[in-house]
Amino acid sequence: MSLFKVYPLNPIAITKAAGSRVWDDKGQEYLDMYGGHAVISIGHTHPHWVNRIEDQLHAIAFYSNSVVMPIQEQLATALNEISEKKDFQLFLCNSGAEANENALKLASFHTGRKKIIAFKKSFHGRTSLAVAATDNPSIIAPVNETDNIIFLPLNDVEALATCFAENANEIAAVIVEGIQGVAGIYEASDVFLQAIRKNCDQYGAVYIADSVQCGYGRTGQFFAHDHAGVNADIYSMAKGMGNGFPIGGILIAPHIQAKFGMLGTTFGGNPLACAAALAVIEVMQKENLIQAADQKGAYLIGALKNTPGVKTVRGRGLMIGFEMEAHLQDTKKVLLNDYKIFTGEAKPNVIRLLPSLAVSMEEIDLFLAGLNKAVQQLSKTA
Ligand SMILES: Cc1ncc(COP(=O)(O)O)c(C=O)c1O
Repeated sequence: MSLFKVYPLNPIAITKAAGSRVWDDKGQEYLDMYGGHAVISIGHTHPHWVNRIEDQLHAIAFYSNSVVMPIQEQLATALNEISEKKDFQLFLCNSGAEANENALKLASFHTGRKKIIAFKKSFHGRTSLAVAATDNPSIIAPVNETDNIIFLPLNDVEALATCFAENANEIAAVIVEGIQGVAGIYEASDVFLQAIRKNCDQYGAVYIADSVQCGYGRTGQFFAHDHAGVNADIYSMAKGMGNGFPIGGILIAPHIQAKFGMLGTTFGGNPLACAAALAVIEVMQKENLIQAADQKGAYLIGALKNTPGVKTVRGRGLMIGFEMEAHLQDTKKVLLNDYKIFTGEAKPNVIRLLPSLAVSMEEIDLFLAGLNKAVQQLSKTA
């Protein structure tokens, strides 16, 4: 037996983690500025999160969605409060792709329409509709190809207005990341998100805010879309929601009504996942992590802009992408191999930082020191 090889792997086996540190099977410590791909929101193995899951495990781990589950109600209330989306409704699932799949399906049910506007370089996941709305033909299987998705350039207000005018009563939804992650950290402008809101209102379409990567406090607001001062109709969430425990969900505006059987899931909203998600929100509130993401992110972005060899810096809060000058293309590799720092990447040459929102200032400085040393080292050999 062997694994189905779909990932190029680092030859490192991580066997232990705490906060923003991880250790391999030989005891080597690493600084985690990647957060397991934006998943670790409150820090690895946070004690409150561990206790809450453990307590839940002893009470009940699973029952089907055919009975009342008070812990789901608690999570919905906690989400209403922390996101400040007071009357929004919650549907729970297990991943980001599933959240977007359900959001798109719900928009189509709600409007009775088929066309979706998505954006160039977007990534929304790998299930059938989510992947069709993803601008990467290499991951769209022939069976997932559809004419129902229209790709427009990000931040082009005019192209958006024209598309709506030309397809007046056919557009079910617009799906947009507040900050495109997989693309390499590209922000949707406030003006653009406001234009999406306006066009969706004018033509009766649903505004879906893909907040799987940029949501959950990472950018200094609960949803990155909040920076634009507009509400979406549906927010999709996953990654940071469970701090590593698999859970996803959509927050749905009150004017969108549920019908029995419209959406469904076996595992979505199970008590264990809800306990993990509640622990995340409790820690975020107790430790002021959204504010921390804002402040630490501003410091990190400012420092990166003043780091020799760094060509461009993009992002907001603790969702950051930067590019190095041409002779420093191996920076990511050197950071990992020589300075024991995990970072993320986006093709072709963006380094992505998606650390826990609880990363400390000392750890940020440790990263910056490692980066400076990597630059000096690579400059010598260039
Ligand atoms: C913006 C965005 N949407 C959706 C997804 C898909 O999430 P998942 O891998 O949990 O299905 C991702 C994953 O990277 C993402 O970045």
